[in-house]
Amino acid sequence: MEWNKLMATRKSCREYTDEQITDEQLKAILKAGCAAPVARGKFEQVQMTVVQDKALLDLIDTAAKAGYGDENFSCTRGAPTVIVVSVAEEQGQISPMMIASAGCVVQNMHLAATDLGLGSVYLGSIQAVNNSFEVLYKLKLKDGFWPVAALAVGNAKEPAEERAIPMTKIFTNIIE
Ligand SMILES: Cc1cc2nc3c(=O)[nH]c(=O)nc-3n(C[C@H](O)[C@H](O)[C@H](O)COP(=O)(O)O)c2cc1C
Repeated sequence: MEWNKLMATRKSCREYTDEQITDEQLKAILKAGCAAPVARGKFEQVQMTVVQDKALLDLIDTAAKAGYGDENFSCTRGAPTVIVVSVAEEQGQISPMMIASAGCVVQNMHLAATDLGLGSVYLGSIQAVNNSFEVLYKLKLKDGFWPVAALAVGNAKEPAEERAIPMTKIFTNIIE
């Protein structure tokens, strides 16, 4: 997709059909994740986990509902695929640089999904599963890794259309 069209078409999707994405689509999305910038080039401190198992997706939702104390909250948004991005703790802490890096990975994948005509949404709320040992165990994370961001992806119930992006959306000042 042409760059300006891609920018104007990208949006958060929160309603998906049951149809799973194809392996080729998944591969293209993961490749986009691997193309993202990561602070200090520490790619070994990032892990992507593809979750397509319905039972684990449901468990993530259950853990997030408990984490937010909101029975109506949906973390996965009913998407058939969630790609969890986890980062390594350093000296017992997760650095803001690594959270930013995970954000870059997710955003790259979000754009790739848009390019493929799929719906997707950034899930900061995946952090709510950090209270659930069961979810953390089932994600098979490397030692010392914690989920900090995720992308829900699937076939959108309503395909995204190009929209106008007003330059006033984010306040900007220019210092000359
Ligand atoms: C860091 C970050 C965390 C987000 N977390 C969630 C989330 O947990 N659930 C969700 O539905 N949307 C989430 N979003 C999507 C935003 O709500 C969305 O990007 C914003 O409302 C603007 O809408 P748009 O993406 O359609 O332009 C997140 C976005 C970002 C950048």
